[in-house]
Amino acid sequence: MSKFFAVTAPGFEEGLEAEIKKFHSLFGIEESLKILSTQKGGVEFESAVNESVYFNNYSKLATRLLIRWDEFHCVFFSDLEKKLKQRSLSKWFKNKSRIFVKVNSKKSKLGQEKKIFEVFKRVYVDFELIPKASEAEEDDYTLFVDFFEDTCTLSIDTSGPALYKRSMDKKTSFGSMRETIANWALTKMMTVDSPWKEPTILIDPFAGSGTLLLESQNVGINRQRDYTYQKLKAFADLKPLNEQKIDFSKFPFTELIGIESDEETFEILKSNLQALGKKTKVSLYHQKNEDYKKSHDQRVWLFSNLPYGKQVKSETLKTMFATMKSVFKPQLIAVFHPEPLKDNEALSALHLPVVNGGLKVTLSILIYKK
Ligand SMILES: C[S@@+](CC[C@H](N)C(=O)[O-])C[C@H]1O[C@@H](n2cnc3c(N)ncnc32)[C@H](O)[C@@H]1O
Repeated sequence: MSKFFAVTAPGFEEGLEAEIKKFHSLFGIEESLKILSTQKGGVEFESAVNESVYFNNYSKLATRLLIRWDEFHCVFFSDLEKKLKQRSLSKWFKNKSRIFVKVNSKKSKLGQEKKIFEVFKRVYVDFELIPKASEAEEDDYTLFVDFFEDTCTLSIDTSGPALYKRSMDKKTSFGSMRETIANWALTKMMTVDSPWKEPTILIDPFAGSGTLLLESQNVGINRQRDYTYQKLKAFADLKPLNEQKIDFSKFPFTELIGIESDEETFEILKSNLQALGKKTKVSLYHQKNEDYKKSHDQRVWLFSNLPYGKQVKSETLKTMFATMKSVFKPQLIAVFHPEPLKDNEALSALHLPVVNGGLKVTLSILIYKK
């Protein structure tokens, strides 16, 4: 029986819990699952099978997946040393492995994180322990040490680079949106309308590196990158995941259109969207979106992360909005911007706050008549 903690951005917890349940039912391991708690920043669950760690490959909303190794009460350094000596890191890692030890202490007698780290260093001499994130490398392991109200929780990271990095090859451009947020926005769009109802084209008029368009096609098991669990001793005997017969129901957009005015960014967009191969119709335009001339018979949904602040002049939210409506004649507009987008002509509107890489933005979803 293993206990996992899936980490997510604040506000995505409910969606993450639903995803955990869906993953276990799709793979026929729902019997093994017990949701223990859904709390700010994540979901704790227990699983009777190690295969739950494949949630790393499936989740669209989690930032990382930790395995809870152990938990004990502790108020003295001598006691901490004694308890650590009873817990061997060799259960997880090969000798000499580099491990970043991320210590966090709140409301506990043992409050000095540096001193706590020193105890770990004294006990686990067979490993190369790293005290600071800035000294850690991408493929180092991470051990989370959390003291809260004198209880020490030890957790092992099973993900490696954050899960919003769907592939290590994707190039980013200025103002990129996190994939986890893009996916959450897509699910919110589905609560107000559905692309299954009528053929629908998805357009990003400020496409940047193409995150939003790419994420609309991201379904199933991600095999585009490696995960830390593949190197952990505890998961050496995982049964392969059989995804052959599973219907991951992809969003049925008939075409993806990306418009990007900056030359260098447009090259990044082209190279990133190539990953979709020939399975999806993709049209990319290197031009200003206000100069877009095509009209569409099918329904149009706009989905975009609008430029703001230094990227644009001050009056432009209004101008960008007017352009989007007149040039594309959309039936749905879903945009991220620090300010909520309001329009009396919309049939309905939804405004949801979200934090993208530390910055507060609002996802506005507006619906229009065809
Ligand atoms: C905030 S970024 C979009 C980032 C994108 N969502 C991503 O994750 O990479 C906005 C992009 O819009 C582009 N842009 C600005 N004005 C534009 C215009 N009038 N027409 C087309 N693209 C424009 C910028 O070059 C920039 O790449």
